[in-house]
Order: sequence, then C-alpha cells, then structure tokens
Amino acid sequence: MHRPGIRRILAVLCGLAAIVRSLAAEGFTPPDESLYAMGRYVYERNCLVCHGRWGDGDGELSKGMIPKPRKFSAGIFKYRSTPAGALPTDDDLIRTVRGGRANTSMPYFTQLSDREVRSVVEFIKFFSPRWRKPENFAAPVNFPDPPAWLDAEAAPRAAKGRATFALVCVPCHGEQADGKGPAVTGLKDAWGDPALPADLRSPAFRNGRTPADLFRVLTLGIHGTPMPSFAEALTPEQRWELAAFIGTLRPPETAKK
Ligand code: HEC
Ligand code: HEC
Repeated sequence: MHRPGIRRILAVLCGLAAIVRSLAAEGFTPPDESLYAMGRYVYERNCLVCHGRWGDGDGELSKGMIPKPRKFSAGIFKYRSTPAGALPTDDDLIRTVRGGRANTSMPYFTQLSDREVRSVVEFIKFFSPRWRKPENFAAPVNFPDPPAWLDAEAAPRAAKGRATFALVCVPCHGEQADGKGPAVTGLKDAWGDPALPADLRSPAFRNGRTPADLFRVLTLGIHGTPMPSFAEALTPEQRWELAAFIGTLRPPETAKK
C-alpha cells in the first residue's frame, strides 16, 4: 500500500539530486588535451622554476618565498569569481597569468601570446584530478554594481564600515589594519604554510583594490586561506561599507592612481 508513495518520494529525490548535480557541474569542461603539448612547452620555459616540474610549487626559485608558488597538484585556488570551494574559471586563471599578483612573487606575463596563455592555463589543470570532476565546477557569481553612495556620500558609510571592521576583522587584520591582529599566530593555509592576514594599508592588493574587488573578496572569501566568506554573516550593504572604509586606508600619495 505504501509502495507507490515511497516510489514517488524516491523519484522526486533522484530528480532533486540530478538538479543539484547539474547546477554544481555548470561550467564543467575537462582539460583540453589538444593544448597539452604547447602548454607544457610554455610551462617549462616560464613557470617551472617556481611552480616545479610536477606542479608541486617547489621549483628552484620557490625557496623562502612567502606566499609559496601555488601547488597546482592540490587543485585549490585563491583567485576566483566562482563560489567558495569551486575551481576558478579560465578567465580567472588568465587574469592571474596576464596581470601577476601584487605583493607576491607571481610575475605578470605580457610577452606570451593569447594562445600561449590559454594553453599553459590548460596545462596546469593536468596536475590535479579535481579538474576532471564536474562537482568541483560552478558558474561565476554575478555581483551587483557598486552603490551610487560610494561616490556621493562615502564618508558616513565608511564610518559604519569602520565599526563593522572593529567587530569582525580586527582579530585577524589588527586595530591598525596592518595584518597583525591578536588571532594571527599559528594561522595556516591549506598548503600547510603560515597564513598572514593582508596589510590593508598597502597601495596594491593581491585581489585588486577597487570597491568591486573588495566586495567580491568579502563575498567569496579566499579559498585555501583563513580569510572567510562573509556572504552569510554580513549584509551586502555592510560589505560595501567595509569596502568604503578600506578605501580610506589607502596611502594618500597613491589615492589618485
Ligand atoms: C617567480 C616565481 C613564479 C613564476 C615564474 C610563476 N609563478 Fe605563478 N605564482 C607564484 C607565486 C608565489 C604564487 C602564489 C601567489 C599567492 O599565493 O597569492 C603564484 C600563483 C599562481 C597562480 C594563482 C593560483 C590561485 O591560487 O589562484 C597561477 C594560476 C599561477 N601562479 C600560474 C603561473 C603560470 C601559468 C606561470 C608561467 C607562465 C607562473 N605562474 C609563473 C610564483 C611564480
Ligand atoms: C580568520 C582571520 C581573518 C578574518 C576574520 C578576516 N580576514 Fe581578511 N584575510 C585573512 C588572511 C589570512 C588573508 C590573506 C589571504 C591570502 O593569503 O592572500 C586575508 C585577506 C584579506 C583581503 C585581501 C587582500 C588582498 O591583498 O587582496 C581583504 C580585502 C580582507 N582580508 C579583508 C577583510 C575584512 C574586511 C574582514 C572583516 C570583515 C576580514 N578580512 C576578516 C584573514 C582574515
């Protein structure tokens, strides 16, 4: 008597599971074998010295680097437009290679052709099996435009951001926003190295320093590091106010750059 009911429930559950799987798989394409040879050539000439022969981040030049060159074999990435935990998009990887990452040893590569960059980005995916599993992929997150008040009346909002900062961020980033909060001793990243909270008074940030960049980082967090996602804990308004506050920390001599 109960059987049809149970079957229907099972069917609904299976349907839900399929929907969840297809959502998670959005953006999934396995690494492109046709770019492997060219990517390897580009990698060996430009990346191996730091990122290592097997993508373990232990190349000759890596000694003493903080942060260390990314360990591609772990398949965990900091610089993403995708939700916490998901792999980055090709565009995210290309942005890192083309632009480098400020305040780290990751250089920018302007001399490589678009095809060379595309192929090396494809090649580094072969170091980790995570790139072959649809569940590790997700579509990039869509962000709202910065609110109009960021230009017009930023000062009172920045003051609110400062108050939120004192409550939520000071334990790691410190009273002075210099990255020396009381909670920082012993913080480790996913690769087992010391994780240092950013000095938010720096003229350049790893993730970029525009309000939109800051909003993105506060929403997504920085995967592989203790920098959490505040998508749940703070409202979008509070995240924009924090962006306004961090804007006021920029050294005055760089403000117009
Ligand atoms: C001089 C050393 C050096 C060289 C050469 C170098 N990298 Fe890096 N790379 C780094 C460091 C250090 C990091 C870590 C930055 C960080 O943790 O913020 C990094 C990070 C990255 C990331 C970011 C991963 C993430 O977490 O989002 C990518 C992608 C990357 N490198 C690709 C490349 C490619 C491709 C090449 C060659 C074309 C290359 N790198 C050459 C040092 C180097
Ligand atoms: C648990 C400790 C912790 C807390 C709490 C925390 N952060 Fe971070 N934050 C970090 C660490 C560690 C990094 C460096 C990540 C990396 O390796 O690039 C970081 C990086 C950042 C960056 C990126 C800087 C760059 O160079 O791109 C910003 C912006 C930032 N934090 C802002 C905040 C704000 C605002 C808050 C409060 C809402 C906050 N953080 C709370 C640990 C923390």
